[in-house]
Amino acid sequence: MHTVPRVTMQWISVAVILCSLASLGWMCCTPDQWEGTQSEFAGYAGYVRHGLITEYNHVAYDFTAKRSAVYLRYVNGDIEAKIKVVVLSEDKGLMVYVDDYEKGSCWKKKLEGEFRKACIPDDAKSYGEYYLGLDGGYKVSSYKIRGKRMNTILTVQPVSEGVCAPIGEISMGRVGHYDILKNVGFVDITPGIKNETVFDVPRDCTEDWSDFDLPIEIDRQDYVLGV
Ligand SMILES: *[C@@H]1O[C@H](CO)[C@@H](O)[C@H](O)[C@H]1NC(C)=O
Repeated sequence: MHTVPRVTMQWISVAVILCSLASLGWMCCTPDQWEGTQSEFAGYAGYVRHGLITEYNHVAYDFTAKRSAVYLRYVNGDIEAKIKVVVLSEDKGLMVYVDDYEKGSCWKKKLEGEFRKACIPDDAKSYGEYYLGLDGGYKVSSYKIRGKRMNTILTVQPVSEGVCAPIGEISMGRVGHYDILKNVGFVDITPGIKNETVFDVPRDCTEDWSDFDLPIEIDRQDYVLGV
């Protein structure tokens, strides 16, 4: 009788387990709905300009309805802004709205692609799990992610199987004419959306961005999880 050697069998089962893990496609994703506070320090250097951007933001992420809202408090040298950046899924596709609610002006434009699920891709390099501060206390895990423009080291807190909450990220790369290094932290994350009005946008948003001069990549989607 022809039998498969026991050692081969063991390797086959290891391979099956590895394959089924790989087919998930993600190391972990954030919960489908959450809100939290985000602080960011970004140093940038270009040919003519260099400086430091600081942001203190409220983030609302809702993958269920494929939308997100970020209330930014943005400071870049003399420039200060309080604006709201909302991404909504509409019939014609994904739209980003920039609402400068203090000035009463609003812009909108169509984004390429689909609403991004906030996940760590499975080709990220894992640095493993460890504890912040006291050994045995606050467990986190870190990943290195290669992006198109920015490379990121992302630290998350495991919540449950395949689910994690963002803690912090360090990103480096080149965006437009600027080299950028940024450090982002997430605090006070709560599950769910407390008040749907965070996604409200004015009806009279303009599609003409020519008078919008904030030197910031407003259509970036990494407010939620640096990837
Ligand atoms: C939601 O927020 C709006 C605007 O701040 C407020 O008027 C409304 O009362 C809130 N609703 C709830 C249920 O808290």
